[in-house]
Amino acid sequence: MAANPTVLYPPPERDNSSAPSAKLLTVDNVNLEYRTRERIVRATHQVSFDVYGGDRFVLLGPSGCGKSTLLKAVAGFIEPVAGTIQIDGKPVQGPGADRIVVFQEFDQLPPWKTVLQNVAFPLRVAKKLSRAEARERALHFLDKVGLAAFADAYPHTLSGGMKQRVAIARALAMQPRVLLMDEPFAALDALTRRKMQEELLRLWDEASFTLLFVTHSIEEALIVGNRILLLTPHPGRVRAELNSHQFTKDSSGRSDFQQSVARIHRLLFDDTEAVQ
Ligand SMILES: Nc1ncnc2c1ncn2[C@@H]1O[C@H](COP(=O)(O)OP(=O)(O)OP(=O)(O)O)[C@@H](O)[C@H]1O
Ligand SMILES: [Mg+2]
Repeated sequence: MAANPTVLYPPPERDNSSAPSAKLLTVDNVNLEYRTRERIVRATHQVSFDVYGGDRFVLLGPSGCGKSTLLKAVAGFIEPVAGTIQIDGKPVQGPGADRIVVFQEFDQLPPWKTVLQNVAFPLRVAKKLSRAEARERALHFLDKVGLAAFADAYPHTLSGGMKQRVAIARALAMQPRVLLMDEPFAALDALTRRKMQEELLRLWDEASFTLLFVTHSIEEALIVGNRILLLTPHPGRVRAELNSHQFTKDSSGRSDFQQSVARIHRLLFDDTEAVQ
């Protein structure tokens, strides 16, 4: 049975007026490094950006520009060697339930748990909900992603797209301050990918969360994001920041959309393109 969304889990306040909403995440001059036995790899160099409540903020750039590393740092899995990352004005210190990550891989669900148990378990552990409360909230979010009928199924019986929906339901059920997504649709076929992008935007409309989304697809960035940070590799640096709120899921045929795709392509791959 699906619960009434507006009564049980009211979304956090979102400011739809012209007034700016609150700054939620601040990444300030962040250097991130990996230390291997032979050498130190600098993954990002002096990267800065701010994410505001209700943003769909996209990190876009080619392979190796440090997108995943940045997401891991925001999630608290990696500590910056320089610079700061703050959530609600407080430094990020390790992972927390206020930042939940959805990964690209389909195998992020424990296979021995049913779909319902997968979504309910973190609610029991991290949110300390009773069995009944966790079950109710899990069913609510499974219903939101269209999988209430599969609550008792095991992950191996689901398609890749369905598994990603479960992972999204599990993340949203935790009601994080920021939902972090690392190329969540990259392993899906093109049609399913497009459908999932549309679903994500619908969920964002309904559940009103803040999203930090990583992709190397320019089209996906323009469709999913309202703001886009362009990164160039070796080490990852900020090339530009763009607004993309003017585009929706139906924009991809439009000439201004195609012009934006071409411009971003030039910014990423043509050093002579000027940033205005
Ligand atoms: N575990 C690791 N050990 C050493 N170097 C690493 C490690 N993970 C990533 N790197 C390096 O850090 C840099 C950034 O990697 P990262 O995975 O963040 O890039 P990305 O933008 O997510 O790329 P992709 O689009 O391929 O996922 C790269 O130069 C990469 O080789
Ligand atoms: Mg990556």
